[in-house]
Amino acid sequence: MTEIPEHLLKRSRQARGTTADEPTEKADDTTPAATSGAVQPAAEPASTPEPAPAVPVAPYNAAASSRKKIPWWAASALVLLPIWAITYVGTLERPPEAGSSGLLADGDHVYSARCASCHGASGEGGAGPAMTDGEVTATFPTPAEHIVWVASGSAGVGLGSPYGDEAVGRVAVGGMPGFGTALTTEELIGVVLYERAHFSGSEFDEGLAEAMDEAIHSGQLDLEGHLDPETVTVDEVLDLLRSAEFGQDDQLATG
Ligand code: HEC
Repeated sequence: MTEIPEHLLKRSRQARGTTADEPTEKADDTTPAATSGAVQPAAEPASTPEPAPAVPVAPYNAAASSRKKIPWWAASALVLLPIWAITYVGTLERPPEAGSSGLLADGDHVYSARCASCHGASGEGGAGPAMTDGEVTATFPTPAEHIVWVASGSAGVGLGSPYGDEAVGRVAVGGMPGFGTALTTEELIGVVLYERAHFSGSEFDEGLAEAMDEAIHSGQLDLEGHLDPETVTVDEVLDLLRSAEFGQDDQLATG
């Protein structure tokens, strides 16, 4: 006995109009093409009776409505994305605030390169006087006098002339070069504030350095030039220091 193919059976059933088989069998597969393959009881979406649309649905619209929405794990990743972004930007901005740049950091470098050979790597002294234990802030109670000294050196003061605070009684015997030409104003002020803050523990000078850093960054203060070793004065330097608006100007002048 030969087997009759299923699609032929189906067609004859339809021709007879019989409902003897399962009621789920839809009578809509009228096109021969739809019955040509293996029997698929699950009806295709296209076979639902209602469409017959005048305007065909474009393929991209159909794709948009049938495609899966954002899965739950991707949605939670999207929710966390702004938090991650804010945290990430925060890590980017932190290093400049940590004091790794600015006048004191530059001063540290300048000291190692230009001053340590005579004053000691830790300011302990050598060919030049020590700077530790408040020695340098005793000689120069104010940063402005200290800056003028480093710009002009022993020769600027004149050999045999007193320098610094009278109570300390320093007299220039020579040997300290003037750095007004070799260093920019920024480097020179940086190394002086570094000597005061780092070796003599002056919190005032540390605060002044921070205020000057801010003034430099905001463009309010420009220290790109040089202090002339021949003509530099305490008043000229005071004007520069005051423009940082540290807010303790009386201490700038009297120490
Ligand atoms: C070639 C050696 C030499 C170098 C380099 C040198 N100094 Fe001096 N420094 C001296 C000598 C010597 C004196 C004492 C000057 C005198 O008696 O005329 C001195 C004195 C000083 C004083 C006065 C200290 C006190 O208490 O009397 C300061 C401040 C100073 N130097 C800062 C600096 C700085 C800042 C640098 C680097 C930018 C520097 N020096 C580089 C040799 C040097």
